[in-house]
Amino acid sequence: MSSSLILLLSLFLISVSASISFSSAEDIGDILRDTSKEIVNVIVDSSKEFSDGFKDVLRNVDGNIKHRDHTKKPKKIVIPLKKFRKIPFADIWKLLSHIAEVSLSRANRLKHKPKVESVNATGLFPKSYGEYSISLSFGTPPQTIPLIMDTGSEIVWLPCTKKYTCIFCNSTPVADPLSAPANMQNYEPLSSESYKQTTCDNPSCTYIQGKFTCKSCKPSNSTRSNCLEVCPRYALKYGSGMTNGTLLSETLTFDDLKIQDFVFGCSNFTFHIPAGIAGFGRGISSVPAQLGLRKFSYCLLSRNFNDTTKSSPLVLYNDSNTEDEDTDGISYTSFLQGPKNSPYYYVGLEKITVGGKKVHGVADFITLHPDGTGGTIIDSGSTFSFMGKQVYDKIVHEIDNQVADYKRATNMEKDVHLSPCYEVPKEKSSFPKLGFHFRGGITMDLPVVNTFWFIDTNETRVACLAIVSDRGMGGGGPGVILGNFQQQNYYVEYDLKHERLGFRTQACSED
Ligand SMILES: *[C@@H]1O[C@H](CO)[C@@H](O)[C@H](O)[C@H]1NC(C)=O
Ligand SMILES: *[C@@H]1O[C@H](CO)[C@@H](O)[C@H](O)[C@H]1NC(C)=O
Ligand SMILES: *[C@@H]1O[C@H](CO)[C@@H](O)[C@H](O)[C@H]1NC(C)=O
Ligand SMILES: *[C@@H]1O[C@H](CO)[C@@H](O)[C@H](O)[C@H]1NC(C)=O
Ligand SMILES: *[C@@H]1O[C@H](CO)[C@@H](O)[C@H](O)[C@H]1NC(C)=O
Ligand SMILES: *[C@@H]1O[C@H](CO)[C@@H](O)[C@H](O)[C@H]1NC(C)=O
Ligand SMILES: *[C@@H]1O[C@H](CO)[C@@H](O)[C@H](O)[C@H]1NC(C)=O
Repeated sequence: MSSSLILLLSLFLISVSASISFSSAEDIGDILRDTSKEIVNVIVDSSKEFSDGFKDVLRNVDGNIKHRDHTKKPKKIVIPLKKFRKIPFADIWKLLSHIAEVSLSRANRLKHKPKVESVNATGLFPKSYGEYSISLSFGTPPQTIPLIMDTGSEIVWLPCTKKYTCIFCNSTPVADPLSAPANMQNYEPLSSESYKQTTCDNPSCTYIQGKFTCKSCKPSNSTRSNCLEVCPRYALKYGSGMTNGTLLSETLTFDDLKIQDFVFGCSNFTFHIPAGIAGFGRGISSVPAQLGLRKFSYCLLSRNFNDTTKSSPLVLYNDSNTEDEDTDGISYTSFLQGPKNSPYYYVGLEKITVGGKKVHGVADFITLHPDGTGGTIIDSGSTFSFMGKQVYDKIVHEIDNQVADYKRATNMEKDVHLSPCYEVPKEKSSFPKLGFHFRGGITMDLPVVNTFWFIDTNETRVACLAIVSDRGMGGGGPGVILGNFQQQNYYVEYDLKHERLGFRTQACSED
């Protein structure tokens, strides 16, 4: 599909769906014409004038793309990060219980990876509307496709081909026609001059297959370099969802910059998954690995900004030659070495506090053990954070002690599948802060709006803890998953070169 056709399609979708404000993928040209400051599509800049930190980028952009010195490799690519799609729930109770369920199901998936080598256990649970999306441009001419930005998985895959079939992609309680196949933006390889089939000698082939399945190339044969058999079709399973397709490689375009031979899955069949996924996790097939990134950072828009035209920047850094300065005002903690081949970013959570008071008896669950169980990961694809029962119960107990003045809204807890919920005065309420203390002596003291979801009813306001827990799901795997609700209005940096996570609080949108 040509990009002008995509633009027309986007405009059409926007106009027909204005009332339900679908976050359509924009054509690059469309975004560039929009000079509003938060819309920064692709900035490719290799000048020394740019310092780290996206604010500088925003200031320099003013709606105009700057090109300087095209002979050098760009240092920074900025892509707008958006709410994936307006949540199609009429009522907040249904919405909350839905998000709670999918957050829990995703945690279940992430925890139950049977074998890390087996890709069928990687990734995103279907129908989670809490993610943030980016648009990437594949092919020649470029076709721009929205994808969920997911630091908890490795593979990139797209809805692909004209015959793309998506079953139960609109099975939410409230009709969501836009998740139906006809409205998805599919990549069409036959309209591109640059697509190639991926062969068995590509390491991503082995990864996506979970094992070596190429018939004419024996796994024992260490010299696979000439193994040109086409990589067999893959099937990725995601709990109740799945997708299958063929591995392709394409030219990925960021404004002037073209990345050749970017490997991704072209899925022609999907069950229960609302969009393609851009895996930003660890591993050779992920976006950061394929682009050779030194680091990437994002700032997740507050969930109050459900107006889908807003975006915040996802910045990809590649200035491998510049001196490594710490980003201003940021706290860093080292990534921990996770289990072999794990796509997750493990961090050293050492202590959790509630209102400054240490929660005892959780160390065993938040610590990563040599057998790969326990530990804490940061994940952009989970909405509400997850805590294993042993951790969650102790935290809830402590919160409950400290907010003894508020009545538990037990009926609400059943409706929204979150607990505890408290009835609080509409004017003003106060809650103890939840503090995550990481290795290196740094602390993430979550603002109350990153910890509780506030719901206004006729007479009162109810606040529910936006963290999910298992009812004994077991399964090893991470004991704590830091989801995107808890990361709202934080600038988060994944510094891959120095193997560390950085963060600071920051308003991710200026209005
Ligand atoms: C993943 O695939 C392996 C073999 O490829 C299979 O044994 C396992 O049951 C699958 N797991 C899930 C959750 O589908
Ligand atoms: C191993 O691969 C090489 C190169 O493709 C091929 O020449 C050789 O026959 C293969 N050996 C076996 C045992 O498959
Ligand atoms: C893909 O899914 C469809 C529908 O379930 C199935 O018919 C087909 O065999 C699957 N292909 C692969 C490679 O798993
Ligand atoms: C997907 O493509 C494969 C290979 O061309 C084909 O066998 C399969 O039937 C297609 N699936 C759907 C759902 O169109
Ligand atoms: C980033 O830099 C590395 C090392 O110089 C290079 O291999 C890679 O291709 C670059 N990536 C991009 C997207 O420019
Ligand atoms: C976004 O959601 C908030 C809280 O749910 C609501 O008060 C607000 O009106 C919504 N804004 C838009 C633009 O839909
Ligand atoms: C809230 O107020 C509206 C209109 O006054 C009423 O119809 C509704 O039943 C009330 N809801 C509750 C939960 O009291």
